[in-house]
Amino acid sequence: MITEAEIAKLSFSGAPKVGKKIPGSKTQELWDKSWKYESPTRVGGSYLQFVWQEAFGSTVKDPDGNIFIDMTGGLGVNNVGHTHPKVVETILKQAPKLMHTLDMVNPPRAELAKRLSEIMPPGLRDNCFTVFDCSGSGAVDTALKYAKMITRRSEMIAFHGAYHGVYGGSLALTVSPHYRSGYEPFVPGAHHMPYGYCYRCFVGLTYPECNAACGKFLDYTLNTPYTGITSPSCVIMEPIQGEGGYVDPPKEFVQEVAAACKKAGALFIVDEIQAGFGRTGKMWSIEHYDVEPDILVWGKGVAGELPLTGVTVKAEYQSKLEVGSQPATFPGNALACAVALTNIEIMTDPADELIKRAEIVGGHIKDMFKKAMEESPVIGEVRGKGFMLSVELVKDKKTREPIDPEKAFALMVSLKDKGILNFICGRYGNVYRFMPPLTTPKAYFEKAVNTFIGLVKEQEKDLQK
Ligand SMILES: Cc1ncc(COP(=O)(O)O)c(C=O)c1O
Repeated sequence: MITEAEIAKLSFSGAPKVGKKIPGSKTQELWDKSWKYESPTRVGGSYLQFVWQEAFGSTVKDPDGNIFIDMTGGLGVNNVGHTHPKVVETILKQAPKLMHTLDMVNPPRAELAKRLSEIMPPGLRDNCFTVFDCSGSGAVDTALKYAKMITRRSEMIAFHGAYHGVYGGSLALTVSPHYRSGYEPFVPGAHHMPYGYCYRCFVGLTYPECNAACGKFLDYTLNTPYTGITSPSCVIMEPIQGEGGYVDPPKEFVQEVAAACKKAGALFIVDEIQAGFGRTGKMWSIEHYDVEPDILVWGKGVAGELPLTGVTVKAEYQSKLEVGSQPATFPGNALACAVALTNIEIMTDPADELIKRAEIVGGHIKDMFKKAMEESPVIGEVRGKGFMLSVELVKDKKTREPIDPEKAFALMVSLKDKGILNFICGRYGNVYRFMPPLTTPKAYFEKAVNTFIGLVKEQEKDLQK
């Protein structure tokens, strides 16, 4: 396994290092320029006042020379770390040869489709085909279209708390009012069912006595007459919910969902865009649950810093799709595919064992959070797997009332001012996600966690109000 000394060479040293005034003047100037000339709908830019100048591994410099530890990891993009030397080398080799090929065959692309087939989870491994796209939202839309074409049915089922993107079909399944309001009407045929979010169970039950009632409810709805769903083409699920609060549901829930799909003749689609590609201590997060998906949607981490996403589908459905019925200009770009191949090489390198390391170091970090939870009146729950961890803050551990969203936001900003980049999430905006690159030194991860725990402790009286 890669040593901590080797890992440390893949990030800037001495982080975090921040001056007294955040943001500094250069950051402020670029920030103002962007607000003037860019659309206000961009989320990352409006969320946290931060400007990226340079990034390496698990660290980022702003234009004023401050160095931050990156606990956002591109929300699943930077799994091998920012500007990994092998990725940069691939770009320098491939770029002079070939980049754009108008969604037509090129060598890295053909190799990538084959390589993806080899690293897919059971059910799809060596038994699938892939369509490329450029964004997660686009890939989800394609997966939904494929499910309709394959099953010749029209309804799509997703879950409370889901985030699948913001285009046509994906927006119909994403639930946050912030992304939906004003953009109605949505693609018809979307339904939402309760997710296995045990901390906030939809009927107030307790796991495991609940017997995965949420999964059973989905089975009942899909497979019982007179429930209102007559033409289910697919159920799409994040095996670990991202935007909805980094919720890792019980195994039984996911197994009920997979079984219910099979019974109903609906395709089981897993959205691995955020949780996939080594992040959770397995190559794909669905591998924690011993079930087999029909379709896997991937994005972010696979090509990492270049825009490439895709949909990988069970081989038996290849003949059900109309040849040439999904034209697109940019997918399968040779440069992005070459980078994806390099990322797969890094992620599966038996000498480094980055995925195993995510499980081990992630487990240690989760224990640190759990210890803090025992002593804290506001840390309600600690969740997640591998390097996809979260902490949910509440005013009162008995009532589980979420802390004020403004205070949650202010805490995120104070973390940034101490040199730790972090994005909150969750249905109440009270969940802090810890999502650093898998190449983050253990010492940096611990530093970020201790800074967070220290701030929570400092503010706990106020957070309880
Ligand atoms: C689970 C999941 N699905 C889909 C998407 C949409 O991906 P993109 O932002 O690339 O459109 C995201 C983005 O965060 C995601 O986390």
